Amino acid sequence: MHAVEEFERVPLVIRRQVYALFLQVTIKCLMCHSKQPAKLVLIVLPLLLLCYGIGNIQCSVVHENSEDFHSLLEFKRGITSDPKGALSNWNPYTHFCRWNGVNCSSTRPWRATELNLTGQNLAGQISPSLGNLTFLDTLDLGSNLLHGVIPDALTNCSNLAYLDLSKNNLMGVIPPRIGFLTKLADIVLDNNDLTGGIPAALGNITSLKVLSLKLNQLNGRIPHELWQMSNIVKLVLAQNNLSGGIPQTLSNISSLQKLSLAYNMLGSTLPSNIGDALPNLQLLYLGNDHFEGHIPASLGNLSGLKEMDLQSNHFTGQIPSSFGKLLQLTYLNLAGNKLEARDSKGWEFFHALANCSFLNALSLSNNQLQGAIPNSIANLSTNLTYLLLGGNNLSGIVPPSIKKFNGLIELALDFNNLTGTIEDWIGKLTNLQHLNLQSNNFIGTIPPSISDLAQLNYLSLAKNKFTGFVPPSLGNLKSMSTLNFSYNSFQGSIPAKFGNFRQLTTLDLSSNKFNGEIPETLGQFEQIQTIQMDQNFLTGNIPITFSNLKSLSMLNLSHNNLSGPVPAYLNDLNSLTKLDLSYNNFQGEIPNSGIFDNATIVSLDGNPGLCGGAMDLHMPPCHFVPRRVGKANYLIKILIPIFGFMSLVLLIYFLLVEKKTPRGYLSQQSFGEHFERVTYNDLAQATRDFSESNLIGRGSYGSVYRGKLKESKMEVAVKVFDLEMRGAERSFLAECEALRSIQHRNLLPIITACSTVDNAGNVFKALVYDLMPNGSLDTWLHHKGDEETPKRLGLTQRISIAVNVADALDYLHHDCGRPTVHRDLKPSNVLLDDDMNALLGDFGIARFYVDPQSTWAGSVSSIGVKGTIGYIPPEYGGGGHASTSGDVYSFGILLLEILTSKRPTDPMFVDGLDIISFVENSFPDQIFHVIDAHLVEECNNSTQEKNVPENEIYRCLVDLLQVGLSCTRSLPSERSNMKQVASKMHAIKTSHFGWKYKK
Ligand SMILES: *[C@@H]1O[C@H](CO)[C@@H](O)[C@H](O)[C@H]1NC(C)=O
Repeated sequence: MHAVEEFERVPLVIRRQVYALFLQVTIKCLMCHSKQPAKLVLIVLPLLLLCYGIGNIQCSVVHENSEDFHSLLEFKRGITSDPKGALSNWNPYTHFCRWNGVNCSSTRPWRATELNLTGQNLAGQISPSLGNLTFLDTLDLGSNLLHGVIPDALTNCSNLAYLDLSKNNLMGVIPPRIGFLTKLADIVLDNNDLTGGIPAALGNITSLKVLSLKLNQLNGRIPHELWQMSNIVKLVLAQNNLSGGIPQTLSNISSLQKLSLAYNMLGSTLPSNIGDALPNLQLLYLGNDHFEGHIPASLGNLSGLKEMDLQSNHFTGQIPSSFGKLLQLTYLNLAGNKLEARDSKGWEFFHALANCSFLNALSLSNNQLQGAIPNSIANLSTNLTYLLLGGNNLSGIVPPSIKKFNGLIELALDFNNLTGTIEDWIGKLTNLQHLNLQSNNFIGTIPPSISDLAQLNYLSLAKNKFTGFVPPSLGNLKSMSTLNFSYNSFQGSIPAKFGNFRQLTTLDLSSNKFNGEIPETLGQFEQIQTIQMDQNFLTGNIPITFSNLKSLSMLNLSHNNLSGPVPAYLNDLNSLTKLDLSYNNFQGEIPNSGIFDNATIVSLDGNPGLCGGAMDLHMPPCHFVPRRVGKANYLIKILIPIFGFMSLVLLIYFLLVEKKTPRGYLSQQSFGEHFERVTYNDLAQATRDFSESNLIGRGSYGSVYRGKLKESKMEVAVKVFDLEMRGAERSFLAECEALRSIQHRNLLPIITACSTVDNAGNVFKALVYDLMPNGSLDTWLHHKGDEETPKRLGLTQRISIAVNVADALDYLHHDCGRPTVHRDLKPSNVLLDDDMNALLGDFGIARFYVDPQSTWAGSVSSIGVKGTIGYIPPEYGGGGHASTSGDVYSFGILLLEILTSKRPTDPMFVDGLDIISFVENSFPDQIFHVIDAHLVEECNNSTQEKNVPENEIYRCLVDLLQVGLSCTRSLPSERSNMKQVASKMHAIKTSHFGWKYKK
């Protein structure tokens, strides 16, 4: 059977030839051989004829029912991307009834009754031609990437019983004529971008059992008609913008089992008869709306109710004790209301809940419950896994009987006034994963038995009155990810065993009485983001092992007795955004550059032994001779202000007399002695006399050589300005000036500058940078074809490089004092360090942005070169002023280049096609045609290997291209600014990394 099916996939013409051949051979056998085979052939022949015949029949069938056939083909034409080949056998040689996803009636005339292409990642639009499939009873196109509107014509499929278009990108309204589909039983349109109101006509479809419209942007009121549907089983309208409320007198809907209206703007009080009108309700989700008033006691009559969620509304009054009648209840969430329990009457509900013997999750957090936790807690179901009572006004001790709930996974008692010790019950809750006791008045110690809570990953004891030593055995809890002991009176040293917390992201030990040294083992935290140990009595140095904490973003060690140097390696912790070492006894010179230049990140006050560092830190200067490179930096710090002034004078000079003196005129003496440390000979030696073999690139105004400074052994890149070239002198000055005041981890810093004469007496100017070992982005994106194993960038690396560049530009435009325009953004100016972090270099033609109205700026814009062809925004060509939005344009081009690996100057871009329209033409449905083939391949592999949903990668790529396209709008006013772009890029990066590492 299978083989026959396979055979039928072969085009008919070929099939016929095969049949014919087979017939010929058989007939020959019949004529020239003995009886036996002849007999066989007599049996086979009719069969063969039959087969041959079927081939013919099938061919004619296609014509017999041309309407469905053509309608489906038309549907296929609307699909622009079919990555899984779901429609691969949708061709005229296969009967449409055998096409993937199509099912037909079992008797003639064969008509399509089912179209099911769920989860095929199809992109494109839904063709209105589907409206011709009048026999269709099931249409399931869920979980694809379809966009556009739901065609009104679908309402012609009068036999439709099941309609699922969920999880697509459909927009527009739900067709109002949907009410004509009177046989519909299921309508599932979840998770799209549908707008407008819910059509009242839906209420007239008496056969409707399931109506699910959640996760759209539907607005308006819920039509009254919907509350009259006599057969509805599931009504799911959650996560829209619906307003209004539920009718005050609800008529009986005994079929309804699930009602979900959560996350809307529904309000007013609940009808008091709700529990009587919906007698078969099992699931009731009304959380995160604006409902108010008392919770109707009639809800207690829902004898089949399993789950009730009323959280985050404005309910007031007492919790009905009738809830004790909900014998099937497993989940009760009343958190985030204004519910009260002031006296024994108010707590009656709690005693009554003892009858709910299946109760599994109970949250009463953030209400106004007062007094002691009743001892009747002991009678609650032992099935409890979640017990959340935080944010109330509970006082007294926790009833020790709580220890019987050893199935608890989460226990939250935070923000109450509870007291007493935890010693005799905590160790029994051996399944706890999440324990929050923050902000109470608990006393006593942490018992060693806490190490029995092997699953614990969140532990907050913050803001209590705990004392004593922390049991080292706590370090056995390997899943720990957040540990907060802050604001207690814990003492002794920090257990070295804490180093076992490999999953830890947050460690907060602030404001205790910890003493001794910081254990070196804490350098083993692989995921750590926040370490706070301020306000203790810690001594010793910051452990060298902290240099491993690559994901650390905040380190607060202030108000201790720590000493030793401020470690320079903290500069290598690229994620660090806050470093507070204030009020300790750190000594010596503050490391230069990196985060230490940014006084908003670093706090070093109250360390009398510290000196040097960036100006903003306001530390006294050091008196000893600094290291060589340090000195060079220091020199630059002093030099550059002079430089800055000089360049301004020079610039004005040039504006006035440029034509007469096209070449640099500065004499060596003007700068000479300050640069004595790096002489012409030093640089000549470092670069082997500027040999061709050391040449690593040619910039706008000269050549760049790699080299190694003899004395300091530093690997450097030396940019030698070709002073023959017009504007080179100014370029040199512009770069010095630009880098004078601006420093950022994604901007390439200069180590030193050299302005002198060479051995032949010619003026020589050069800038010296750190050598970036991974070269420029250009060499990674574009291969010359002579490398053995060409270097390739993965998607993650490309995103991270683009984010670095966006950060650098954001800083230049918005955060470095005066807005600076880079003007020459392109891949060869993006350099990559050891860890593939991108640093933006070549400020040769950077300009401080000034009011374009001023005449000075007007003159600036008339100066020679302003960038590189392909990356220059259109307005510069028209004589526009250099502006930050010009950089935004160049960034857009760069981003498109990073994703497509096509230069904007690629020979394919002719006849009006450029890199922008190239991407635009395929956006968003066919982006895999324009994305770099290696990325497409990576995406395909990762989908198979790591379970990464292909949709997510696709969406990420679409988002990135979208940023690129929005930056490259031809009108500067239509482009976002760099701050917005950077923040969008970060959001994309976060969501990319988010799903990448999800299990
Ligand atoms: C469509 O097919 C999928 C499996 O391919 C199945 O899970 C789903 O139930 C089908 N939809 C309908 C409405 O039958």
